Amino acid sequence: MDISKVISEMTLEEKAGLCSGADFWHTKAVERLGVSDIMVSDGPHGLRKQDQSADHLGVNESIKAVGFPAASATACSFDRELVRREGEALGGECQHEGVAVLLGPAVNIKRSPLCGRNFEYFSEDPYLAGEMATGWINGVQSRNVGTSIKHFACNNQEHRRNTSDSVVDERTLREIYLTAFETAVKESQPWTVMCSYNQLNGVQVSENRRLLTEILRDEWGFEGFVVSDWGAVRDRVKGVEAGLDLEMPSSNGVNDKAIVEAVKSGALSEEVLDQTVARILRIVEKFVENRQPDTAWDQEADHRLSAQIASESAVLLKNSGILPLKKEQKVVFLGEFADKPRFQGGGSSHINCFRTESALEAAAADSLAVTFAQGYTTQSETPDEAMIAEAVEAAKAADAAVIFAGLPDSFESEGYDRDHMRMPENQNALIAAVAAVQPNTVVVLHHGSPMEMPWADDVAAILDMYLGGQAVGRAEVDLLWGAVNPSGRLAETIPFQCEDNPSSLYYGGEGDRTEYREGIFVGYRYYDKKKAAVRYPFGYGLSYTTFEYSDLSVDQTQLEAGGELKVCVKVTNTGAVAGKEVVQLYVRNPIRGDVIRPVRELRAFDKVELAPGETKEVCFTLSNRAFSYYNAQIGDWYAPSGEYAVEIGRSSREIVLEQSVSLHNARRLPVRYDDNTLVGDLMKDEKAAQVCQPLFAQYQQSSQLSGGDSETANEAISQEMVEKMFAYMPLRQLLSFGGGAFTREMLDQMIAKLNEIAEQE
Ligand code: BGC
Repeated sequence: MDISKVISEMTLEEKAGLCSGADFWHTKAVERLGVSDIMVSDGPHGLRKQDQSADHLGVNESIKAVGFPAASATACSFDRELVRREGEALGGECQHEGVAVLLGPAVNIKRSPLCGRNFEYFSEDPYLAGEMATGWINGVQSRNVGTSIKHFACNNQEHRRNTSDSVVDERTLREIYLTAFETAVKESQPWTVMCSYNQLNGVQVSENRRLLTEILRDEWGFEGFVVSDWGAVRDRVKGVEAGLDLEMPSSNGVNDKAIVEAVKSGALSEEVLDQTVARILRIVEKFVENRQPDTAWDQEADHRLSAQIASESAVLLKNSGILPLKKEQKVVFLGEFADKPRFQGGGSSHINCFRTESALEAAAADSLAVTFAQGYTTQSETPDEAMIAEAVEAAKAADAAVIFAGLPDSFESEGYDRDHMRMPENQNALIAAVAAVQPNTVVVLHHGSPMEMPWADDVAAILDMYLGGQAVGRAEVDLLWGAVNPSGRLAETIPFQCEDNPSSLYYGGEGDRTEYREGIFVGYRYYDKKKAAVRYPFGYGLSYTTFEYSDLSVDQTQLEAGGELKVCVKVTNTGAVAGKEVVQLYVRNPIRGDVIRPVRELRAFDKVELAPGETKEVCFTLSNRAFSYYNAQIGDWYAPSGEYAVEIGRSSREIVLEQSVSLHNARRLPVRYDDNTLVGDLMKDEKAAQVCQPLFAQYQQSSQLSGGDSETANEAISQEMVEKMFAYMPLRQLLSFGGGAFTREMLDQMIAKLNEIAEQE
């Protein structure tokens, strides 16, 4: 299709019409010019294709499909290749069904455990979220189906999500909330980006030119179209100007008309509208011209893939040695979730699964002698003494009890937030009662977001599945009996209680104003800096084998900013069974410096499979970004000179090897001197120090400032102390404390000279 020709032949009404949906899930066709419509569907953990009665909250039926583990689970795999395979399978399903764009991945950062939609998001860490999103997008798009990375940006709460204003400073925005989008756009060029419902710093995101054009397109090079979240449009004309291309769903003609009128009145240039139309047409064409309608959809195969992904994502949080279970042990399964697992979240990502596989079914299929007692119901939170008594008796009679617990559907969903992070009381009571009589009590968790675990110290093992998809039961049995060795690592910190979380003082905001006052200190960036105790740290997870690290090496210990650092480390499986280890590389930031920074940040990771006794070397290349923070003054990433360390950790809290690296950055940040400039700041700059040296010497003489080495001075004050105090003196105080030796002219001349030099640099 010759897109410019098509646009030149379109009427103004046709152009405006193309900028909004024909209905809930389709774009408009322009038949007379050969422009087809395309269909989009949710996403992201399966295909929610709705043929009839459409809705954006997962209320009405969609076609039978395959439910994959939610992103909160798959992020724990730390496995780019695994999510790429999930994406490939989903892309194939879309081709089979004629769906052009799958609405995902969702990469918002988990600011608080309370966000109702956390189950759909990857992580509290932007690097991890970006890497997982990239893998998934590359997978889907390899089948010539588009994606829609969402929700751009700062939609980190469900509470008042349509109107709330996320108030975020520039550095926090760049370092925490935009990075995952940036990575995915640069590394995988999603066909579309979905703008979020909320406002950002006072501007509705669907009208935010800075976000949708300047950052997304001009800075990051995004080539596709921006689609609104369903109903996110407020002022459509402002939206077109800002770079919002497609409004979904349709506004029933109201906004199309507004666009036509704006062009006619000259309020909106037709050229801008043409660009919008061109962006939409390019994606329509991309899908239509490369359709693969013969693509088969083997749902059973995707069910098996879903089970594999769930098993590779599960996190073993605790194991006293009871796991893996042995075939000859008498095991009782307790809890409703053993029979009817919770494996997905509510809302637009809800899949109408063609089948589900519970742990009870999977155990039966494997001919394991497992008994069952329900123990609790998800219909109530009140402990049922009869159910608990039955479970306790069954637990006593068994060699081990496995309790399937977690959050019922109503506890977390798209559309609203939680107001606490506790599990239902009947489940806590069941676990406590069973653990009191059965030392081999294992808890298997189903949930989308952190929970308090008051019983964690009393049970023998904890296996965390998050929301493991429709085949979660198969994965659970494989993990519990050791057919699969757990290899997931937490993609978020599990605090003891919600109040420990850094956002807890401000989360939800006041009315529509939500200030992100904790700034960059989100997740482990906060807990590590505070040295605060947590239930389980970011990156943590156990295995049925053990791994040892050795030979950490870097290709240079004196690094020039802008250069690359190559890091290698060896990892050995020192146990008796095969397993996978997630090698995590953190960069520890300089302890002292002018910038407040987290203690350490995840900058690279890899997952390796090792047979017993096997050693592999894992190498990473760190770019300048790995040492940088976002400097809002220069509007760029900046790596300050200083002593950094490359750390290899089993989690953010257990660093096993480290190597220091000294970084030198010749690029100076712009400075402007005035009479409030501190002496100490001047002395950091060699050239400035030279200019001031004579004046400072004169000052020290005339003010008779000296330490304990002088006869008249106070013995307790050393020269070093005097210098430290002098460093905090602003230049203007030369006039006050210089014993009359200085004039305003002398000061002004010196400042002028300093600024002259600073400008030359
Ligand atoms: C959600 C999106 C979803 C859209 C369409 C919205 O409510 O926020 O994630 O893709 O509906 O269902």
